[in-house]
Amino acid sequence: MIGILDSGIGGVTVFREILKNIPKGHFVYYSDSINNPYGNKSKEEIILILDNIVKKLINMGCLIIVIACNTASSIGVNFLREKYSDIKFIAIEPAYKMVHDNNPRGKTLVMATLGTIESEKFLKLYHKYDNHNTILLPCIGLAELIENNKNVIPYLSDILSEYKDIQNVVLGCTHYPLIKDGIKNILGDVTFYDGAKGVTKELLRVLKIHKINYEFADLEIKFIDSSKDKTKEKRFWELLNPKEQPQRPKTD
Ligand code: DGL
Repeated sequence: MIGILDSGIGGVTVFREILKNIPKGHFVYYSDSINNPYGNKSKEEIILILDNIVKKLINMGCLIIVIACNTASSIGVNFLREKYSDIKFIAIEPAYKMVHDNNPRGKTLVMATLGTIESEKFLKLYHKYDNHNTILLPCIGLAELIENNKNVIPYLSDILSEYKDIQNVVLGCTHYPLIKDGIKNILGDVTFYDGAKGVTKELLRVLKIHKINYEFADLEIKFIDSSKDKTKEKRFWELLNPKEQPQRPKTD
C-alpha cells in the first residue's frame, strides 16, 4: 500500500497525478487537517507531527510514503529517512528546476509557505537554479484559507497586485494548484509549475527499481482525516474525482 500525506486537502493535487499513472493502485491518503497549517509551525513541531503520522501509515502496511506537502518534505524528510530506513519516502519539492528547464530567464514568482521558503532544503535548490530574476513570496495563511474553502481573492489581491510582468509562477505548496484561476485573475496569463509530475515520476522510478508491485485488479483508496470532519472527506472525493470507482475501506 502506498501512503500519501499532507496537512489537509492539498495533497489531492499530487494524488490526481499519481492516479493518472497508477490507476489501480492501493492507497491510503492521510489528511492532517487538525494540524493545518504546517507552514508556520516550528521544525520540532512538524517533525513530531510527521513522526506520528508515519507510524500510523506503517502500521497500516505502507512501505512507500509520498510526502505530498512541500513544507513537510522540506523540513522533515531527512529525519524520516534516517529514522525509518526501511521505508521509501518520496518527497515533493517546489518545481523551481522546471523553470530552469523551461523558461530560465523569465521573471519568476515562487509562492510557498514560510516554512518551505526558509528551509535549508529549498534554499539549496533555489541557489542551484537561481535565475537572478526570482521573487520568493511566503504566503502566510494562504494554505489555511484553501483548506477551509474560504474566498482567497482578497488575500491574493493583497499580496500579488504589486507584482507585474511575472511569467513563471512556482506553486510551492500543494494546496495552491487549487487556486490557479484566482492567481491568473491578478497576474494574468502566467505559466504555472508544481511538483506533482516530478514526485510522481520519482515514485514510479522507486517502485520499479525496487520491483514493488503497484498494480492490482481494482483501485483501492482509504481516506483518513485527523480532524474526523466529514466535510473534508466529501471535498476530498470531489476534488480527486477518480475515473474508476474506487473501493473505499471504512475510514476510522
Ligand atoms: N500543502 C502544504 C504544503 O505543500 C500546506 C502547508 C501548510 O499546511 O501550511 O506546503
